[in-house]
Amino acid sequence: WAMHAPYVKAINELKAKRNAVILGHNYMTPDIYHGVSDFVGDSLQLAIKAAEVEADVIVQAGVHFMAETSKILSPDKIVLMPDMQAGCSLAESITAEGIEEMRAKYPGAPVVSYVNTTAEVKAASDICCTSSNALRIVNAMEQDTVIMTPDQYLAQNVANESHKNIVYWPGSCIVHEQFTPQDLRDYRAYNPGVRLIAHPECPPDVVAEADFSGSTSGILKYVTDEKPEKALLITECSMASNISDQLPEVEFVGPCNMCPYMRKITLENILWVLHSMENQVEVDEEIAAKARLSVQRMIDLSK
Ligand code: 13P
Ligand code: SF4
Repeated sequence: WAMHAPYVKAINELKAKRNAVILGHNYMTPDIYHGVSDFVGDSLQLAIKAAEVEADVIVQAGVHFMAETSKILSPDKIVLMPDMQAGCSLAESITAEGIEEMRAKYPGAPVVSYVNTTAEVKAASDICCTSSNALRIVNAMEQDTVIMTPDQYLAQNVANESHKNIVYWPGSCIVHEQFTPQDLRDYRAYNPGVRLIAHPECPPDVVAEADFSGSTSGILKYVTDEKPEKALLITECSMASNISDQLPEVEFVGPCNMCPYMRKITLENILWVLHSMENQVEVDEEIAAKARLSVQRMIDLSK
């Protein structure tokens, strides 16, 4: 922490000067999560915050699709991305043409796209979802067949709990797809009594081995309510580091799968964008207007 102190101080001073807020995703490293973020949360909470917050500038301490969502919901604010290369394997797996392909294959079926998508994909979709509201959004669709993009595993996990016929795009998250059911059986064998908690971007056979599955905010709520003696989060590694401070009675055990995109965000590049005001995220107004409808429909159905 001591070595981060000059950055934290400089960032917090610049934030005040620029009337800026930092929205930090749960997967940020603890120096960013605890040191400089004004609001932390999962992708739904950050999207809602982006729409509400009174500031001239938003620094998105997260990945690019999150910054686009902030810009879509707050077109008059300046949205800064500390590193424009902080992408997401899910967002990169599908384009607007992919959405049209699915519509042609399943005529009349609504398209529910994960927020982990580009603005163009959101604009081509009927509604968005996040991992915390996916089941509710899918069940709210009138039609029996629903198209989910681009996360095949989130789609399969939702299908296991929904009466809808869900068809999906074959995208996946490079962090969560690495876990296997055998890994979870081994974690249990080596850590007797451990509670295994999986993000729904994990394959369904992994979720089936877990004690609970939920979005990053769902995971935090579960651990806070249950306070298990030992917990293992089957998700990105920084999540456990971030919440362990507020839950000293819970012992968090490994493993450590890191998201290479989330790791691109550092105190250094946060300071740099606040100083230079470079890396401003722009979304074409026509695309933003359509994408806003998809995101706003999701927010309205999540209330
Ligand atoms: P959450 O909505 O659960 O925060 O997930 C976002 C994400 O990118 C997980 O990999
Ligand atoms: Fe994308 Fe997976 Fe990284 Fe989340 S953890 S940003 S879904 S690659």
